[in-house]
Amino acid sequence: MEKIAFITGANRGIGFETAKRLAETGIQVILGSRDLDKGKKALNELSSNGINVDLVKYDAFDQDAPQKVYDFISEKYKKLDILINNAGVLLTGNLFVTNCSTVSDKDIKDTFQTNFFSVISLTQKLLPLIKKSDAGRIVNVSTILSSLTLHSSKDSPISPAKEFAYNASKTALNAFTIHLALELKDTKIKVNSGHPGWVKTELGGPNAPVEVEDSYKTSIRLATLPEDGPSGGLFHEDDIIPW
Ligand SMILES: NC(=O)c1ccc[n+]([C@@H]2O[C@H](COP(=O)([O-])OP(=O)(O)OC[C@H]3O[C@@H](n4cnc5c(N)ncnc54)[C@H](OP(=O)(O)O)[C@@H]3O)[C@@H](O)[C@H]2O)c1
Repeated sequence: MEKIAFITGANRGIGFETAKRLAETGIQVILGSRDLDKGKKALNELSSNGINVDLVKYDAFDQDAPQKVYDFISEKYKKLDILINNAGVLLTGNLFVTNCSTVSDKDIKDTFQTNFFSVISLTQKLLPLIKKSDAGRIVNVSTILSSLTLHSSKDSPISPAKEFAYNASKTALNAFTIHLALELKDTKIKVNSGHPGWVKTELGGPNAPVEVEDSYKTSIRLATLPEDGPSGGLFHEDDIIPW
């Protein structure tokens, strides 16, 4: 039976690359895009290369979005095998700041809305469709910058990257991963957080060492884990990252 995947923030960056690679394996991918024109542009780029995907509007600030996405997938596909919560923001545009004492209320709230709260609402809404899959996979796109273990070590390679709202929102996202994975441990659903690497996207910036073309590996691995694969972890490719 055909597998169905939904990826948020799939019109560009890591989400787009992940959608492309997943669709190339024969999975029916639905792109989530908050701007339908941008989504159509992404869809057209893929279809001009012989890759057919579907598209639905998904904006993390739209409280009705989870229901609309649920209705779209449920009517057209009846089930969901893979949910990749990929949409994310870094509102200051700079990973290498130390701004815990100065970050604004608005930046904290808006960052958490996109990177955390909306992920919970969407995942909860889509869970009944994922439960219809015989191998449900939920991938929360996190970051190595979510790691409290690494941040609290003074010799850590991530020490200079202290953009508080972004980092804390992804730490919270990891908590969702752990709690949901435990709650679903007796089901066929696996829930993991993934760090794609430091990638040259609008969010990652021009100095990132990983090209967008190589950014899909962690999300795809976690989206296609075998039955005996892990659940409730934080990974970069095959490596475990400490919480
Ligand atoms: N790049 C890195 O080095 C890196 C490292 C670790 C983790 N990550 C994570 O990887 C994920 C993808 O990042 P990226 O580097 O590909 O970033 P990106 O190129 O900036 O793309 C971000 C995507 O999220 C979408 N988005 C932003 N706000 C949204 C909202 N309110 N509702 C729905 N979609 C929204 C964007 O849509 P628009 O085009 O409409 O803005 C875009 O599709 C993020 O969760 C990020 O935290 C990235």
